[in-house]
Amino acid sequence: RLHIVEESIECLRRNDYGGYTIPAHNLYPFQWNWDSAIVAAGWAVFDEARAWAELETLFSGQWEDGMVPSIIFHKPSTTYFPGPEIWGLPGSPSKSTGITQPPVAAISARFLFEQTVHGKLAEKKMADLFPKLLASHRWWYKARDPEKKGVVAILHPWESGMDNSPAWDAAMKFPTDNLPPYERKDLHHVSASMRPTKDTYDHYLTLLYRFKAENFYDWKKLYWVSPFRMTDLCTNSILFRANQDLRWLAMKLGKDDVVSEIDEWLDRGFEGFKQLWDDNAGLYQCQDQLTGKLVDAPTSAAFLPLFAGVASKEQAAKLVENLKQWLDSVPFGVPSTDPNDPRFEPLRYWRGPVWIIINWMICNGLLHYGYDDIAERIYDDSVALTSNAGLREYFDPKTGDGCGGELFSWTAAMCLAWLD
Ligand code: DGY
Repeated sequence: RLHIVEESIECLRRNDYGGYTIPAHNLYPFQWNWDSAIVAAGWAVFDEARAWAELETLFSGQWEDGMVPSIIFHKPSTTYFPGPEIWGLPGSPSKSTGITQPPVAAISARFLFEQTVHGKLAEKKMADLFPKLLASHRWWYKARDPEKKGVVAILHPWESGMDNSPAWDAAMKFPTDNLPPYERKDLHHVSASMRPTKDTYDHYLTLLYRFKAENFYDWKKLYWVSPFRMTDLCTNSILFRANQDLRWLAMKLGKDDVVSEIDEWLDRGFEGFKQLWDDNAGLYQCQDQLTGKLVDAPTSAAFLPLFAGVASKEQAAKLVENLKQWLDSVPFGVPSTDPNDPRFEPLRYWRGPVWIIINWMICNGLLHYGYDDIAERIYDDSVALTSNAGLREYFDPKTGDGCGGELFSWTAAMCLAWLD
């Protein structure tokens, strides 16, 4: 594995644009929110100051209302669509998108803080960062759970990070608007067979333009007007876990005054997750907030409540039973959709391929519940995939071939921080 470690360090250095790491050249030429938070853990392995800089730069893009955008457009680029001119206006490009992404930052901050060798540096950095992390979690509850369900809503598939998950198919059937003509730049870099379809993009853009029309992404309005409003398992599992890590950091920093607020989020979140359990399927499911129905879609997000730690022992056992079947159906796990489901597409982005960061979260959850053997199996698959195919964006679960972007930062970060 020595060469993978060297290659991973080299990859992060190559994708370092000065204080932030792009996910991959050409395909994703800006700072992405959850990518960066994960990448910080990779930097921490060999350059602690640079790891903190990654989070600092991410939060330099935080909005006044507390939201951390999904993408921050630090420097111009011609290789990505929709870029700053689309999110803003042609003469007045926006500094960021107007939507967010799964809140990994507090999880990453705790990781950095716990494994610091420069205690003083970590204490200083953490003291600066903590109020920003807290403001971002407060934003989630005020903007995305105004009805106090205990679980938060995403309003765009891009916010889930799992852009074209089969879990969004039914909800993404709303009529699209008359869109200005546009050119997909992602298709210059990656085969169309590995990317979302044109119809999916028309829906993504309809949402974008409608949100922009609401006074430039006014959080007070978007929740009520969006034709897509979903309780996403990935976002909520990460937020629940991030709340625990934020609480841990609050205790370390002596910020006892905010602990009861975080405890309230955790208590309500725990109750909220109970509504998402589908006992027939033996899986958690996302919930369409506009119809109130659970979405029948077996995706890898179903296992992330293990990472959150909200599943009971019995629920965990049923999840693991399903997970084993999925793993027995393909040579490399964890596929992002159940390989026995008709919606499974082994090459297409979030409809089948294996993602190393999701493997990490699932393994972390499995170890917490005592399923060491199956965690080891997923760990071994992750090592095999990255050793054989390199630092790719995602992997074909049937062949182990690499897909999507190359020299991909968060895959490199996982090779350093997890698969070492
Ligand atoms: C993309 O453009 O594919 C990104 O996932 C959006 O955030």
